[in-house]
Amino acid sequence: MSATPAPVVVLISGRGSNLQAIIDEMQAGRLPIRIAAVVSNKPAAAGLERARAAGIKTQVIDHRNFPSRTAFEQALMETIDAHAPQLVVLAGFMRILGADFINHYRGRMINIHPSLLPAFPGLDTHARALESGALEHGATVHFVSDEVDGGPIIAQAVVPVLPDDTVETLQARVLKEEHRLYPRAIRWFVEGRLHLNDNQVVVDA
Ligand code: GRF
Repeated sequence: MSATPAPVVVLISGRGSNLQAIIDEMQAGRLPIRIAAVVSNKPAAAGLERARAAGIKTQVIDHRNFPSRTAFEQALMETIDAHAPQLVVLAGFMRILGADFINHYRGRMINIHPSLLPAFPGLDTHARALESGALEHGATVHFVSDEVDGGPIIAQAVVPVLPDDTVETLQARVLKEEHRLYPRAIRWFVEGRLHLNDNQVVVDA
């Protein structure tokens, strides 16, 4: 008998291609999770439709409906915690989160960022990688800490930067790797293979 799938909540703000990659792995039986809910801060996020198409519960907590960031994050926390998730997955969630929220999910909230952190935290990573003349670029999955894009690194995927790359071609090459990397990192987490040692992630074989 297989183990009960781990409940996970996924937070999105947009397209949801990483969400789709996670759904696909889950549906293929390669990722022992149950997506309890997909929560978006944007009512028009295309990822919500992907979740619905997969029969997954969707919820919208629109930050514009709250008087303060604290009030928004309180509502978001209550929404997430109602599902008692083992893991909170940020998949293109485009709000900066406050310290209380981050502390509440410390060690059980992960993010994917389109660069080889610590290079290029923040926005416009592909344009910045091209401008810098970097020969390699990629994506990083990391635990979320109060430093933006600065938490302990779980896994990275490296791609070459080619001489005739544009932002679009480079972004597409990185995104393809993101879709392989994120489900794998989630699997490691729910299999209990990730440990923090002195703020560094150790992955059990
Ligand atoms: C991805 O590039 C991810 O690394 C970044 O936001 C983008 C989300 O894309 N955090 P999608 O919504 O998963 O398609």
